[in-house]
Amino acid sequence: MGVAVSLEPSVKSFVGTPARKMLIDGKWVAAASGKTFDTLNPATGEVLAHVAEGDQEDIDRAVKAARRAFDDGKWAAMRPAERQRLLLAIADLIERHGKELAQLETLDNGKSLNESQNVDIPAAAETFRYYAGWVTKNYGETIPSDPAFFNFTLREPVGVCGQIIPWNFPLLMAAWKLGPALACGNTVVLKPAEQTPLTALRLGELLQEAGIPDGVVNIVPGFGPTAGGALVHHPQVDKIAFTGSTEVGKEIHRETSSTLKRVSLELGGKSPNIVFSDADVEAAVQGAIMGVFFNQGEVCCAGTRLFVEQKLHDQFADTLAKHAASLKVGDGLDPETRVGPLVSQEQYERVTGYLEIGKKEGAKALTGGARAKGLERGYFVAPTVFTGVKNSMRIAQEEIFGPVVSVLPFKDENDAVFQGNNTLYGLAAGVWTRDVSKAHRVARALRAGTVWVNCYNVFDPAAPFGGYKQSGYGRELGRYALDLYTQVKSVWMRI
Ligand code: NAI
Ligand code: MG
Repeated sequence: MGVAVSLEPSVKSFVGTPARKMLIDGKWVAAASGKTFDTLNPATGEVLAHVAEGDQEDIDRAVKAARRAFDDGKWAAMRPAERQRLLLAIADLIERHGKELAQLETLDNGKSLNESQNVDIPAAAETFRYYAGWVTKNYGETIPSDPAFFNFTLREPVGVCGQIIPWNFPLLMAAWKLGPALACGNTVVLKPAEQTPLTALRLGELLQEAGIPDGVVNIVPGFGPTAGGALVHHPQVDKIAFTGSTEVGKEIHRETSSTLKRVSLELGGKSPNIVFSDADVEAAVQGAIMGVFFNQGEVCCAGTRLFVEQKLHDQFADTLAKHAASLKVGDGLDPETRVGPLVSQEQYERVTGYLEIGKKEGAKALTGGARAKGLERGYFVAPTVFTGVKNSMRIAQEEIFGPVVSVLPFKDENDAVFQGNNTLYGLAAGVWTRDVSKAHRVARALRAGTVWVNCYNVFDPAAPFGGYKQSGYGRELGRYALDLYTQVKSVWMRI
């Protein structure tokens, strides 16, 4: 293992005892039950920090605080220029504390510092900055109507938003949720994932430093069925935004029907990445690597079904396997690491379980297929390239959420599109070809919320992201996210 970076003093004190508290109504408080839970460092499996464990009573207090902060109008009716200034201040603070936040993210999630420092943290800051721009541009319309009247629309906030986020991009998912919600004047109860609560809690301190009024953002760490469930069921919550598993997404869809909360769901994927034989092969190999090994493959839009045109298939799979085998797996704090540990023992078992399922189904691991060698502790899985996979196999249909790719052959364009779409999911897809017309045709034919042509995993806060089919509904990012966090009021005036 290489030399790990030395931790910022602020990181050391943040993860030290006593337990981290939760943010309710502008105050840092212990759980009503007094309970705490441990968050682990996935590179070692050791306890990193103790965190207050929110449950129903804490969620109730947080929702009531958010309700008051919404109903008293101090946030929703704040002068837009002032609310914009506050969101810009959050972006600046994230950047100023970038090094510290990146280290904290790597410690809690496992991802390489290379990624947390260069992707997660800057993208979180950019997201707040992007939505700061919308605060002053959230226009309504004037609508042609009977001249005896004047009809216009107002875009108003939805109210109290419960936001439940996953562990794969902890701070960035907080930013995707909070940015548009706050820009539109909503108040929030945010529940970070139990595996990775730390950067959201640190963000809570930065929100206070930026001057976000008390109660506007409440952050309650805790477990899914308890804290998350309480948020989903709370009658004073107007909207739930969720990113995570399709299974829990379906449960939220069902459970919110009794209160008719608005819901947006960003769920799983099994995205096809399609390489035609006329592609720039070297670029496609790099794209395939980026598509599936970025963030240890713990990415909802990972290009886990890699379709390669028949005549290129074997050569492509071999080259990919060589590249995959050369990726440095290790502690995320080691600057040379490209693939860190998976987030938890549970995720490690899920992913290695799929490696066994794949082998039983008759797939062949050209590289990987097991625990990463030379790493005795921590949740390390070797980057794995499977061939001999059929699209009907479980490893080609079920989300694995680890550094595992299945390479599958296809005959022609129609076959690529047919197999690519042959999945319950529809989050993203990739296409590699030098033929512009083919690129357009295939991009249109793929049933996915994002299609990348000759690239993969490219994001911008301005570009919408979300799923077709069982990958969820609603679009985050861009101006589309404003639709999730506003409702339209039509006002009639007799002239
Ligand atoms: P999960 O869906 O259980 O957890 C995501 C978030 O939902 C966490 O904050 C969790 O506490 C919360 N949650 C869990 N159960 C809940 C409930 N009943 N009510 C309200 N909130 C609840 O995902 P998990 O178990 O961590 O991972 C399982 C699989 O889900 C992964 O292997 C992966 O396939 C998929 N996943 C997809 C993600 C994505 O980005 N779309 C992110 C995380 C996981
Ligand atoms: Mg952790």
